[in-house]
Amino acid sequence: MPPIFSKWFKSKDNFIAETMFPISEKVALVTGALGGIGQEYIRALLQNNIKGVALVDINDACAEKFIEDLKKCFRGQRLFFIKADVTDLQQLEDAYKKTIDHFHHLDIVVNNAGVLDERNFERTLNINLIATIRSTYLAFNKYLKDFKGGDEAVVVNTSSIVGLMPYDCIPTYSLTKRGVITLGMVMGTKGHYERTKVKIITICPGGTETPMLDMYSDMPDELAEMSEGLMNESTFQSPEFLGKGLIKILHEATNGSVWICQNCQPATQVHIEKNNVLLKSKH
Ligand SMILES: NC(=O)c1ccc[n+]([C@@H]2O[C@H](COP(=O)([O-])OP(=O)(O)OC[C@H]3O[C@@H](n4cnc5c(N)ncnc54)[C@H](O)[C@@H]3O)[C@@H](O)[C@H]2O)c1
Repeated sequence: MPPIFSKWFKSKDNFIAETMFPISEKVALVTGALGGIGQEYIRALLQNNIKGVALVDINDACAEKFIEDLKKCFRGQRLFFIKADVTDLQQLEDAYKKTIDHFHHLDIVVNNAGVLDERNFERTLNINLIATIRSTYLAFNKYLKDFKGGDEAVVVNTSSIVGLMPYDCIPTYSLTKRGVITLGMVMGTKGHYERTKVKIITICPGGTETPMLDMYSDMPDELAEMSEGLMNESTFQSPEFLGKGLIKILHEATNGSVWICQNCQPATQVHIEKNNVLLKSKH
């Protein structure tokens, strides 16, 4: 573990909001819900008897079958698919409105939609970072703040292990995931919690077997060789570990905290020093 991540991120601003969070009474909105990790998030929420989930994704190809299959295993629970592109502010906000019209409250937002596209790095920035910021603001400023069913609501943002330890072959992707961590640390401070009663938690998956890994086969030439090394050296976990990780986090995580979920291990909190910059003296 690099030294900057080895100590507690703790300051007077880092408000610890520990409360019981009964998932069975909650409604969640999950973006990227039909992807490899998204599907496991949905299964895990249903296994924990969540009251309702809005599944938001740009790709509706497998939506019907996925929901039908889940309904066979999890009777009585309410699933609701909303086709939306998270980079389109209107579509994103409509997804929030439709969720509240359908379920009448909203308690958990999981910003999980993401791509790894170093050729079209603007796309990566828009989906992974800009849309995550927008959705976090929509949740904090209106839809979780005003429509939560209980005393407290939560945003879970999906970063990556490369947000903590950037990889040379995926510069823009690493940057977007670092930005998601910073967003969570800043929005997870006392002032934002006090005005909204919304917590924010960041999850950093390690390499996970999902369709996203296919994108490594379409890297720009100058990055392709480095990415081959990465693919050969890395091990990839099943996305099931992320489902378990999400539930652990919903029960245990404090406001503003950052969690790693990698190598088939239970999710663990990372401790980031806030003031980790060393200034060089001028002689
Ligand atoms: N798989 C990994 O190794 C890994 C590691 C660390 C972090 N992550 C992160 O986990 C999250 C989920 O990734 P995954 O591995 O399940 O990938 P995936 O490709 O299986 O799923 C991504 C989902 O996001 C959806 N999506 C993409 N663009 C969208 C848009 N504009 N609007 C709405 N939905 C959109 C896709 O349709 C897809 O269903 C991503 O944020 C990713 O960066 C993945």
